[in-house]
Amino acid sequence: MYNINIVTIFPEAFPGILDISVLSRAREKGIWKLSITDIKKFAGNKNSIDDTPFGGGPGMIMKADTLQKAYESALQSFNCDNIDDIEKVILTPSGITLNQKTIEGFSKKKGMILICGRYEGVDERFIEFNNLKRVSIGNYVISGGEAAAVVLSESVIRLLPHVLGNSDSKKIESFNNGLLEYPQYTKPRVWQNMAVPEILLSGNHKKVSDWRVKKSIEITKSRLKK
Ligand code: 6GU
Repeated sequence: MYNINIVTIFPEAFPGILDISVLSRAREKGIWKLSITDIKKFAGNKNSIDDTPFGGGPGMIMKADTLQKAYESALQSFNCDNIDDIEKVILTPSGITLNQKTIEGFSKKKGMILICGRYEGVDERFIEFNNLKRVSIGNYVISGGEAAAVVLSESVIRLLPHVLGNSDSKKIESFNNGLLEYPQYTKPRVWQNMAVPEILLSGNHKKVSDWRVKKSIEITKSRLKK
């Protein structure tokens, strides 16, 4: 079973949309499970989750010591012999931008620990000491890693064996490889004076599939320019 442990100061943010539809059914089937580690539980008596940055500047920095305790507790929940079998990630806007290839790599592990940083920052020594992989979900800023952890989890879970139907997974691996999705239509044939492309009504599978490849290439090229 693929094990995801999310380390956060906002446990109430989960499971959220990780427990709907395909992902929910996959969890019920025992393909994956979610555990949440609440950092606040490791803060001791005083409020020792974050503190002001050395050198000054705005915002608060998450403290290494409290994070370390939460992280080690999360690690224990895996009871695996080799720490390299699990992906250890900190979600941060300064990380490498997530892409499908990275996600495929993560999906081949036994699980992931996802540390949700807050935007202002996390003590650098915690990241270095544990050799965490820094991951961002794009070139923009959100206020904490929680939404990013959901995006990463969803993208990994749908690649796990038996989560998607055969046809869907084939589409990811071969036909759609590196290309964006072609446009899709359903009934009615005409809507707001816009007709469905004639070729899709032709019943000619070869022509339909050629048209879709052509459209995928066009769309991929035009998006790359933007
Ligand atoms: Cl992982 N965190 C935050 N705070 N902002 C982001 C991000 C992560 N990825 C893109 N922007």
